[in-house]
Amino acid sequence: MSAVKAGLKIPMKCNNITYHEGKVSREDRYRVLGQKGLVVWLTGLSASGKSTIAVEAEKILNSMGKAVYRLDGDNIRFGLNSDLGFSERDRFENIRRIAEVCALFRDAGLIVIASFISPLVGMRQLAREKNSENFIEVYVRADVETCMKRDPKGLYRRALSGEIKDFTGISAPYEEPANPELILDTQNNSLGECVQLLVDKILEMSALKD
Ligand code: ADX
Repeated sequence: MSAVKAGLKIPMKCNNITYHEGKVSREDRYRVLGQKGLVVWLTGLSASGKSTIAVEAEKILNSMGKAVYRLDGDNIRFGLNSDLGFSERDRFENIRRIAEVCALFRDAGLIVIASFISPLVGMRQLAREKNSENFIEVYVRADVETCMKRDPKGLYRRALSGEIKDFTGISAPYEEPANPELILDTQNNSLGECVQLLVDKILEMSALKD
């Protein structure tokens, strides 16, 4: 399902606006920070390990002097996206807004680690298109049985009993990424191994080459 099919081709309501170019380019900002802006998009089921990996990777990169910022699905839904639920349309809108935020942060030169279930291929495509070349999709892989066993927030139990509707993996779909730049298999690898793989990839992709 694409954003357009989901009814999310949002018409612009504002007319009479003009884009103002600045005198500082993205490359100027990258030079000041000594790194390239990068969007690291973690997708996977609830309880697959996205947030846990993101927290650890952010800590390591920060301690190395990197300008890094984490955006997390649960957290963003307390504020910016508190008006959105879990219908397909709302999830598309969730991802559309976050893709815009990521694009701004990346433009500012930050390494952004975004952890969102983003269950449909079209949602991840939307995020990738907004962020073009400096974007990596990372599939945090654990199957639904494993996530159900982990169930750290008790949400799978409540979804199975029918108390929570449209729950990803139970009563709402998750489309596996076909060609992610990186797969972190949290079923068969330790947290430390997954974090190390991610940090290495981020360092490679955000390095300024002269
Ligand atoms: S997304 O599908 O729109 O990308 P997002 O990552 O922002 O989802 O939020 C997922 C988090 O919301 C989950 O980790 C879980 O804690 C919570 N949640 C609450 N209801 C649902 C639901 N119906 N499906 C999935 N996650 C849910």
